[in-house]
Amino acid sequence: MSEKLNRAAAHVRSLVNMEPTVGVILGSGLGNLVDSVDVVAAIPYAEIPGALASTVIGHSGRLVFARIGETPVVMMQGRNHFYEGHSLEDVVFIPRLLAKLGARVVAITNAAGGINAEFHAGDLMLISDHINYLGTNPLRGANDDELGPRFPDMSDIYSKQLRGVARDVAAATGVALREGVYLATSGPSYETPAEIRTFRVMGADAVGMSTVPEAIAYAHMGVKVIGISCITNMAAGILDQKLDHVEVLETTTRVQKEFAALMLALLERLGSHTN
Ligand code: HPA
Repeated sequence: MSEKLNRAAAHVRSLVNMEPTVGVILGSGLGNLVDSVDVVAAIPYAEIPGALASTVIGHSGRLVFARIGETPVVMMQGRNHFYEGHSLEDVVFIPRLLAKLGARVVAITNAAGGINAEFHAGDLMLISDHINYLGTNPLRGANDDELGPRFPDMSDIYSKQLRGVARDVAAATGVALREGVYLATSGPSYETPAEIRTFRVMGADAVGMSTVPEAIAYAHMGVKVIGISCITNMAAGILDQKLDHVEVLETTTRVQKEFAALMLALLERLGSHTN
């Protein structure tokens, strides 16, 4: 894994004259954040040796390098999901590459269903912790000691200190920010109402199909993580209505501007929290 990552990193470095210190994984609806930054370089995943061909993620699967304020940032525009059939090792390959390229802090964003009854579609939620309900783990298999330890600690994945920074930035930007626990399922089916009731008892505030593999890989590598979910809908059975991917997309479009404003301010600030 290390060798494959080092090869990919060397290739990317040969194309880009910038050392990023902060990374971001742009989830559903945030991809056009790249339209509001000065792009230094963009590299399709398909051109990165060892990365999955980008067929399933379409044309938008690419690494984008940009300077936000003083902060050099590398962005993943498009990600691979477990439900697409990839191994978790493949799912975390490009996320790990961000760290290899220099990112010491990574902000992970996603779309999620709200389980906490106080939430509403359109809310943004700072992830305080996660529940891995995938039934597997990206670190399964031989450990690569160069990347991290066999049994990495998971007690502060979504850095308490950085959550404080995110709350400050949200207040300064005038964006309301919820906070809660994110639970990841494999998907691609949405959950049943019985599953959602179970997840609530387990302590989950939101449910989605991403983020947890990446966060575990970063904890393994000693990279700090910030997680932010866009609550695109209330989870199954909470409201008397069916779940629909169209609703998810509509909500991301509705809150896109607010979400992007928060993320831009946050990414800039994270530049001073990279050690
Ligand atoms: N469940 C799982 N993933 C999701 C949801 C949901 O309700 N909404 C957006 N992503």
